[in-house]
Amino acid sequence: MTSVDDLDLMSLHPFELGRDEEVFARLRDERPAHWNDEPDGRGFWSVTRYDDVKRVAADHATFTVTEGTQIADRRAEGSGARSIHHVDPPDHGPLRKLAASEVRAAKVKKLEPDITQVIDDLLDEHVGTGEFDLVQKISAQLPLVMIGRLLGAPLEDCPHLLRWTNQMASEDPDYSEGPETAVRARDEVFTYFRALEEQRRACPADDLVSALTAAELDGVPLSRGYLDAYYLILMVAGNETTRNLLSGGVLALHENPAAWDHLRAHPAAVRVGVEEMVRWVSPVLSMRRTATRDVELHDRTVRAGEKVVMWFCSANRDPRAFERPEEFRIDRHPNEHLGFGWGEHACLGANLARLEARLFFTRLVERGLRLEVTGDARRLRSNFFRGIKTLPVRLEQA
Ligand code: HEM
Repeated sequence: MTSVDDLDLMSLHPFELGRDEEVFARLRDERPAHWNDEPDGRGFWSVTRYDDVKRVAADHATFTVTEGTQIADRRAEGSGARSIHHVDPPDHGPLRKLAASEVRAAKVKKLEPDITQVIDDLLDEHVGTGEFDLVQKISAQLPLVMIGRLLGAPLEDCPHLLRWTNQMASEDPDYSEGPETAVRARDEVFTYFRALEEQRRACPADDLVSALTAAELDGVPLSRGYLDAYYLILMVAGNETTRNLLSGGVLALHENPAAWDHLRAHPAAVRVGVEEMVRWVSPVLSMRRTATRDVELHDRTVRAGEKVVMWFCSANRDPRAFERPEEFRIDRHPNEHLGFGWGEHACLGANLARLEARLFFTRLVERGLRLEVTGDARRLRSNFFRGIKTLPVRLEQA
């Protein structure tokens, strides 16, 4: 058996096979602060227990986001762009507030009829049509259309947004020819949203691009870098994650048929069930911080400047925090999972993601539809997003 010190979270094979939990169980028990060498980098620490992930996420004075939030130092925003995700308090709060008011619960709730319509159209289109790929036909479409609408991008541009998101979200060979693919996609996103901005400056609408274009911090309009980064993060974060929550949720229900029965019998239980899907799937596997000073973690010394990675997926399976975490329990309550992160940088779009997932599963059961998984899922090669690339299904009227 591999020594615990040699367990390597840069090896993407266990993630691609959906067997990473075996690695994390050992790390939580045997090496809760674990050093990982990196082939093309300076290495990083991993925290895998629930309490440790919370501690790192909450202590922004010791663990900063300003040096990057993904494991590798690659990619990121470049060109002087800086998103809320890369700004520490006290600057972070006012910047975040500009978009937070646009995705607050009450505002997002108003999208409910819209989201329901998009879902019903997608379901109508595919019911009784035989086998199809859930990811491409439904899971990718719903968040894409909704984030496009929120930002103000016309429907016909959504396929471009999807392609750019895929190219920036991972270096999976299905989407990327290497790091330069992400850089090219990023530049295309900047160009696209700058053009949309011009239109909104001339003619503002009720959307995020209009709101951010008009926004001011201390009486000064947002810099080019802040604007570019805002569009970019909303687009990637709003797409990739919710897509995988929907596909991963369907897969979890397929593997636990009693959970489907429970939702069919009690559609109101979908709200609680969605939280268990977020815990179970953990669409965002990891996020990184950088130590600002020497700090002790489980008797190991993390030096100032070293990278510390929080594994949300592992925290969500920690038996120190959850009863029988290895079981998918559709009625788990309470469920204080860390799937949307913790602390100042906790997910900005959680209201929207929850609403989309809740309406999707509610419409399925309310309409008496059966979504059967008919083949294996193909998973993304990534230690950042828990991605499902394809999932064959059939949708039938019960
Ligand atoms: C199931 C869906 C989603 C999951 C699991 C998820 C997960 C997360 C997590 C774990 C973080 C914390 C990052 C950290 O601590 O470094 C985060 C942050 C963020 N999310 Fe989400 N997210 C989802 C959907 C969305 C959507 C729909 C949007 C956009 C509308 C969004 C926008 C953001 C933004 C902007 C941040 C950065 C917030 C900040 O730095 O203050 N997310 N998300």
